[in-house]
Amino acid sequence: MRISIFGLGYVGVISLACLARDGHEVVGVDIDPTKLDLIRRGQSPVIEEGIQELMQQVCASGRVSVTTDVNEAVERSDISFICVGTPSGANGSQDLTAVLRLTEQLGIALGKKFGFHTLVLRSTVQPGTLEEHMAPLLEQHSGKRAGEAFGLCFQPEFLREGTSIKDYDNPPFTIVGSNSERATAQLRELFQHLPCEFLSTQVRTAEMLKMACNAFHALKIGFANEVGRIAQALSVDSHEVMRLLCKDTRLNISPAYLRPGFAFGGSCLPKDLRALTYIAKGHDVNTPLLGSLLASNRVHIDHAVDQILKSGARQVGMLGLAFKTGTDDLRESPLVIVAKRLIGEGITLRIYDPQVNLSRLIGANRRYIEESIPHIGSMMSSSMTHMLEGAQAVLVGIYNQELGEQLRAAVQPSQRIIDLVNMPQRQGLPNPYSGVCW
Ligand SMILES: NC(=O)c1ccc[n+]([C@@H]2O[C@H](COP(=O)([O-])OP(=O)(O)OC[C@H]3O[C@@H](n4cnc5c(N)ncnc54)[C@H](O)[C@@H]3O)[C@@H](O)[C@H]2O)c1
Repeated sequence: MRISIFGLGYVGVISLACLARDGHEVVGVDIDPTKLDLIRRGQSPVIEEGIQELMQQVCASGRVSVTTDVNEAVERSDISFICVGTPSGANGSQDLTAVLRLTEQLGIALGKKFGFHTLVLRSTVQPGTLEEHMAPLLEQHSGKRAGEAFGLCFQPEFLREGTSIKDYDNPPFTIVGSNSERATAQLRELFQHLPCEFLSTQVRTAEMLKMACNAFHALKIGFANEVGRIAQALSVDSHEVMRLLCKDTRLNISPAYLRPGFAFGGSCLPKDLRALTYIAKGHDVNTPLLGSLLASNRVHIDHAVDQILKSGARQVGMLGLAFKTGTDDLRESPLVIVAKRLIGEGITLRIYDPQVNLSRLIGANRRYIEESIPHIGSMMSSSMTHMLEGAQAVLVGIYNQELGEQLRAAVQPSQRIIDLVNMPQRQGLPNPYSGVCW
């Protein structure tokens, strides 16, 4: 294919060299003449394992050229990759100046070009950038329609500096968010040789995904280092702890606990987090990340309570009270906290949880609920139907197939569903609906 690459930093240079290595004709564009001169001489403007040799080889092949002329680069290519920087502004916001300035120039170039052209953004950008900023600018400057005369895609880059050629050839997956099937097909063809899945998704999803991936990587590093510092203070081998932690691929290194849903609770997580951060404090070990988890959980509960209050419902049905489906353990259940808050706000509440039978509760579980909500007995319903009677909104806090069927059979179309569990097969329900974080 004939490819142009805009922005010859780490991402652009690796793409240019690897695409040329794979047999494509590539034209590189940058505003920095020093970078272009280096490439003209067969040298790489960035230092990466193997890049000098590769750059020399691809430049000698005659498949690489460089220019500062955006129109020429668009004219001489079928696909353009945009790899300019998106640095932090002084207040932490993402500075899109380079992306948007280039977008204007690309719009003008598209206006002059005959035939379909595909633009692929590889820079990391905030969700909405393509649809809300780039597409209108491109349409305005080209006089053409996005998705018709030109394709606009976001394909996040997952390379890591230091191992970027290896990462380019072995990405975790190829993700493309696109407004055009034709453009997606071009990218599928271009990257089909890579040993990974090719996934197409919505543009905004792809934009958000890249930011979520980087945040997750930072979270993992912060977590491992905080565990390391606590282990160090306690004379525990931190590497052995984390090595063994990673061996659990069922609960630890797995999709478990990684679905947006409701707050955590129960008899272990909050208690043991408190204990761990207390131990850290006792050894003068500062662990802001671990220390923030209970606060983050509280914010999530507040968010659910706000959602119920904002719905305007004064009578609310709650499906679930225990900390998860299928248990009667009420200790530190976030649903108990929600119930308490709603009662405090003067909401009339009815609660149905088939596993929770107050007369059968014993020990710490009973003490917890008696201390948290002493009059809970009068709010408990013995059936789904009773819980839903008169409710303007129903909060779905636990779920299984049987409860789903019961709910579907008894809920009135006017009752708002506030979903904490990401109810499956909810599409057919006519009810007003809101998810807690979706
Ligand atoms: N560095 C990485 O490992 C990495 C990995 C994945 C994603 N990303 C993302 O990719 C993007 C680029 O990162 P980078 O590290 O390669 O950036 P970089 O700062 O090294 O390179 C950006 C290049 O764009 C050029 N440029 C700026 N305006 C231009 C214009 N109008 N026309 C042509 N060129 C222009 C600059 O001169 C510079 O050479 C960023 O959004 C970054 O977040 C980076």
